[in-house]
Amino acid sequence: MARITAGVATSHVPAIGAAIDLGKTEEAYWKPLFEGYEYVKEWIRETRPDVIFLVYNDHATAFDMNFIPTFALGCAEAFKPADEGWGPRPVPTVKGHPELAAHIAQSLIQDDFDLTIINEMDVDHGLTVPLSLVFGQPEEWPCLVIPFAVNVVLYPPPSGQRCYDLGKALRKAVESFPADLNVQVWGTGGMSHQLQGPRAGLINKEFDNEFLDRLVDDAPALAREPHIRYVREAGSEGVELVMWLIMRGALDDKVAVKKRFYHVPASNTAVGHLVLENKGG
Ligand code: DHB
Ligand code: FE
Repeated sequence: MARITAGVATSHVPAIGAAIDLGKTEEAYWKPLFEGYEYVKEWIRETRPDVIFLVYNDHATAFDMNFIPTFALGCAEAFKPADEGWGPRPVPTVKGHPELAAHIAQSLIQDDFDLTIINEMDVDHGLTVPLSLVFGQPEEWPCLVIPFAVNVVLYPPPSGQRCYDLGKALRKAVESFPADLNVQVWGTGGMSHQLQGPRAGLINKEFDNEFLDRLVDDAPALAREPHIRYVREAGSEGVELVMWLIMRGALDDKVAVKKRFYHVPASNTAVGHLVLENKGG
C-alpha cells in the first residue's frame, strides 16, 4: 500500500527562485537563508520519496479571474514551468502520477471534498521554488509530483479547518492506493507577508513562531483559527499558511520535528521551513 511518511513546509518566495537561477546563493543576503535548507537537501536524499503531493497556490498564472477553483488537483502526466513574465524558470518539467492523482480525486470527492480536476496546467513559483530549495538544480526532478493548487489569492480562501480536514481525507486516499509508494506531503507559502497596500512589507515574527509551534503540537486548535486572524496578523498573503494545514492533517497526530527554520527577510517575506516525520499514532 502507499503510505505518507513525512511532511515538508516551506515558503515559496519567487526571489528565492531567481537567486538560485542566477547563481546568487552564496551572496551575503542569501547565504543565511540557503543554509537553513542544507538539512532538508541531505534528508531528502535519505528518505527518497516516490511521489510528492505538493500543496501550493497558483498566483494568477494558470488561473485568472475567469476560473477560480478552491482546490485544483493536477492529474496530468506532466506540468511545465510557467512563464510569469520573465520567461519560464530554467527548471525541469514536473512529472505527475496520473493513476494516484485519479485515485485521490475519486476518494476525496466521494468524501465530500469538491475538487476541480486539472488535466493541463503550467506551474508557477509556488510549486517550483520549493522543489528547487529541496532538490537544488537537477536535470530532472528525482521523483513524481502531484500538484494541488489552493485558492488563497482571491477572496474567499478555504478555512484552516477545511484544509486540515482535507489533509486527513488525503491520508485515507493515499493509504487505499494499492501500489507500494513512499509519499510525502508538502505545504508551501507564507509566512507573514503583505505585498500591497498601506501594510506592504508587514512581517510578524511572533505570529509566525506561534504558528510553527502550534502546527507541530496544537494543530486541531490551530485549524480553528479564522482566516481573518491570518490576514490581520500575517498580512494579506500570509493567509497562504492555511495550506500548511493540509500537510499537517495528512500526518500522524504526533510528529517528529527533524528541522525547523525561520528567517527574515527574503524579498518582502518571512521564510519558514519545517521537516516533519510520522511517529505512529
Ligand atoms: C512574493 C510572492 C509570493 O507569492 C510569496 O508567497 C512571497 C513573496 C513576492 O513577490 O515577493
Ligand atoms: Fe505566494
